Amino acid sequence: VDLDCYTQRMIVPATTENIRKAAECLCAGDVVAFPTETVYGLGADATNAEAVARIFEVKNRPRFDPLIVHVANEHAMGKIVTFVPEPARRLAARYWPGPLTLVLPRTELIPDIVTAGLASVAVRVPDHPVARALIEASRCSIAAPSANRFGRISPTTAEHVREQLGEQVEIILDGGPCRVGVESTIVSFVSEEPELLRPGRVTLEEVEETIGRVRIGAPSDRPLAPGQLARHYAPATPLTVIDTISQVDPEHRGSAALLLVQPQPAATPSGFAHVEVLSQDGRLTSAAANLFSALRRLDAAGYSGIYALAIAEVGLGRAIMDRLHRAQVSAGCEVRRARR
Ligand code: TXA
Ligand code: MG
Repeated sequence: VDLDCYTQRMIVPATTENIRKAAECLCAGDVVAFPTETVYGLGADATNAEAVARIFEVKNRPRFDPLIVHVANEHAMGKIVTFVPEPARRLAARYWPGPLTLVLPRTELIPDIVTAGLASVAVRVPDHPVARALIEASRCSIAAPSANRFGRISPTTAEHVREQLGEQVEIILDGGPCRVGVESTIVSFVSEEPELLRPGRVTLEEVEETIGRVRIGAPSDRPLAPGQLARHYAPATPLTVIDTISQVDPEHRGSAALLLVQPQPAATPSGFAHVEVLSQDGRLTSAAANLFSALRRLDAAGYSGIYALAIAEVGLGRAIMDRLHRAQVSAGCEVRRARR
């Protein structure tokens, strides 16, 4: 634990007492940052439109991008959604608490600002003791996007939150680094066919094993077509996804960083200023947990470019590649879409 952070007041350890204070802030209409198993969230009472407006202000987030509401359990979800189709129930039973968000028709209890005026609401039950304790202590449904400035890399530590939002947040509860490291899988049940809006730790394969075939949603820049903005996770350093290392001109390597999801079976590629390996053990779960921290670090190091070697878009690889592709788009290139 970095004690310097604590002297700057905003970051506090997630003790019972501090969770209680944060819960009081929520009830009073303030925003607080808290850890979940995926990334840190910036939370407000989901039924308080003014408090939720503050989230958009702090994040500098456009109002057409709706928020995820965090609840204690399936029963609590009953207050904010009108109907839960059978397949959605099956997913909830299997993956909650956990990194899965369901988009369902909403009740009047949820103000328009949470859903950008949509008739649906995104809801999940987080699997993190601090997030759960905060929901319980506040007795709130907590609307919370990732606690970063809009379009930037999502935070997986309390320090990441402070770097981007520090002065504007009353309390940042420190629960250590996030276990999963990429945002929740989002499955929408608003049209005939269930649709995967965002890949995450709960994989497409796992979703389909539970409920059968789902459509794969496309990212979009169109307002009122939420789910996925193509432009996201923007590092300032241009990031390029490559299929083979030989694609990178040897002339460019000396000032650039190579980002590998897994260790290379062959010899370490030569000529790069730095080679970053996301998982020493080769596991995608470790790679996902390190992804956003590594992107921040590489971005801060001032390389001329970051070259990320693509991996197969299966299992958790789909979520990792989704984030890398969108980091690339934000650096000014064309998006390439994941398919089956
Ligand atoms: O893991 C996570 O989901 C984290 C933690 C904090 O829970 N939260 C998170 O929130 O990633 P955010 O705001 O960064 O992403 C929410 C996504 C957005 O892409 C948004 O468009 C989509 O959820 N979304 C929210 N409500 C929706 C709705 N009614 N219909 C379709 N998409 C929706
Ligand atoms: Mg986000």
